[in-house]
Amino acid sequence: MQPINLWDYELLAETHLDSSAWDYYRGGSGDEVTLRANCAAYRRIQLRPRVLVDVSSCELETTVLGTPISMPIMIAPTAYQCLACPEGECATARAAGEAKTLMVASTMATRTLEEIAGEAGGALWFQLYVYHDRRISESLVRRAEASGYRALVLTADAPRLGRRERDMRNAFALPPHLRMANFGNAEHADVSHHETGMSALAVHASLMFDPGLTWEGLAWLRGITSLPVLVKGILTAEDALLALEHGADGIIVSNHGGRQQDGVPASIVALPEVIEAVRGHCEVYVDGGIRRGTDVLKALSLGARAVLIGRPILWGLAVNGAAGAQHVLELLRAELELAMALAGQPRVTAIDSSLVRWSE
Ligand SMILES: Cc1cc2nc3c(=O)[nH]c(=O)nc-3n(C[C@H](O)[C@H](O)[C@H](O)COP(=O)(O)O)c2cc1C
Repeated sequence: MQPINLWDYELLAETHLDSSAWDYYRGGSGDEVTLRANCAAYRRIQLRPRVLVDVSSCELETTVLGTPISMPIMIAPTAYQCLACPEGECATARAAGEAKTLMVASTMATRTLEEIAGEAGGALWFQLYVYHDRRISESLVRRAEASGYRALVLTADAPRLGRRERDMRNAFALPPHLRMANFGNAEHADVSHHETGMSALAVHASLMFDPGLTWEGLAWLRGITSLPVLVKGILTAEDALLALEHGADGIIVSNHGGRQQDGVPASIVALPEVIEAVRGHCEVYVDGGIRRGTDVLKALSLGARAVLIGRPILWGLAVNGAAGAQHVLELLRAELELAMALAGQPRVTAIDSSLVRWSE
């Protein structure tokens, strides 16, 4: 099959991945209610197209924290990309560069942040987990600064790992040749031990993540770096305001792709209250369940500056490495451009909430 949309890539990817990696990538937490809701919610949003507008050329370019990107679609941080293809995160960085968009590299990458920066043709942000031992996080910050990353993305929705039952059943672990590359030879970088009924990643998270992290942690991060800091994993107006109060430069509305707390709303459902709360004081982005150009259009019209996609990039990598990831981005770009034309919206930066309404 020649994939012509992101769903095709997902179908094909399953045939390229071993079942444990597939479950790790595809799965969510608990009953996967939120995972399903992320995609389903977009179907409850209808477009209100305008007609007889000159759409002979559509402008997709925008900026994120001042960095120009060719379209309002970025790459979300996802761990362990070498499970999808041997080059892993380096392939993603090349795809992002070719597509002239931005990649967020994960703390839990299977290539070092320096290797990723070496391959990147475009801008990078670095996603950070704050560890019990803050010196570990601080050293990642210093390395990200030195490697030219343009912002830090503090993931706030993972004090502990969500209950990912697929991974528990599979006793998910990395194959022995893969490590959490950013941590060199440290013992905690090795997540290759299979323990019955447990995910090796969950074990790592329970040992290393700091469940005591509070808003003070954001203030701490703000204080140790001059890079902009975004907070990822916000779903409420209250937390959006706290993020602003503690110095966040941007917010990513996200439920971690349905992998953390099950039962929270689809991220697109949470977006409007965050937009209303921040009142333009910082840029707001959204991820989770975006599979179509019309989904991107809907997210923009509800106030997102840009969106991020997670799993579809992994599907592209699994099917055809960097070229596959790039093709995923180009398919979504083409769909967005068509959707803009058919909606009478020639400029992404001019899209507003009059373009959508919620259906029952
Ligand atoms: C396999 C996988 C690994 C992920 N790893 C991370 C991570 O290391 N850090 C993080 O902040 N989010 C992580 N996420 C969440 C993504 O950044 C993003 O929020 C989510 O994938 C978006 O939903 P989507 O996959 O439906 O596009 C991961 C998601 C997946 C699917």
